[in-house]
Amino acid sequence: MALFVRNRRPVVLDGRLRHIAFIMDGNGRWAQKRGLPREQGHKIGAKAFQKIALHCESLGFEAMTVYAFSTENWKRPAREVDAIMDLLEEYIDSSEKEMEGHSVRFCFIGDRSPLRPSLQEKMTRVEEITADGRMTLNIAINYGARAELCRAAEQLRSTDTPITEQAMSEALYTAKSGDPDIIVRTGGDLRISNFLLWQAAYAELYFSKKLWPDFSPEDVDDVIREFYTRKRRYGGL
Ligand code: IPE
Ligand code: IPE
Ligand code: MG
Repeated sequence: MALFVRNRRPVVLDGRLRHIAFIMDGNGRWAQKRGLPREQGHKIGAKAFQKIALHCESLGFEAMTVYAFSTENWKRPAREVDAIMDLLEEYIDSSEKEMEGHSVRFCFIGDRSPLRPSLQEKMTRVEEITADGRMTLNIAINYGARAELCRAAEQLRSTDTPITEQAMSEALYTAKSGDPDIIVRTGGDLRISNFLLWQAAYAELYFSKKLWPDFSPEDVDDVIREFYTRKRRYGGL
């Protein structure tokens, strides 16, 4: 029997792996495959996200960044966009209870100004009440890396700050959590879709064919094992 069981040895993080990022893709296809409306995929995807965030906190990650809604996702039908916004509000409402026993600092990245006021208020409130949390959880909503880079450049220009790599990094939404060590994309597509373009410079990339609602904490453990087989050279030897 043991032959058929995946390597379940618990993974232990060391200083090489501090920050993990996820492009949570494949919710719509997950639902469509089952003859369900796409919104149902987002609902189950939100549950997968909840479990994985708790798992990453338990493992001791310093930061986790997830792509929840891109600047391009407004192109979708209003019904789907509204359902995603409803789910985000529900998620924030339930997070206090869900996160019990875990220490997570919520941080929303992206331009929140076009979001509905009720969602903006919840985002600000949960950020305030979790400000002392241990693991930073960056949730990207109305986030696009190009917009983030333009905003950072504009900020440096308007304050007459010399444009250095360090100044740019510090002007990004991720200033506090730094660059991800690994970026995981589910759903089978091999692209970045305007996520963390600057921060991804030397990130390891991991692509999974699994659709996001099917992605589990065990799959995260597989990502971690794979990460430790990679040799990061940063251009050196
Ligand atoms: C990712 O799943 C979630 C968002 C982009 C909001 P998708 O909704 O893109 O699912 P697929 O890629 O169409 O299956
Ligand atoms: C990326 O997925 C955005 C999120 C997961 C939030 P998309 O489904 O929007 O990306 P494309 O359109 O396949 O590139
Ligand atoms: Mg998609």
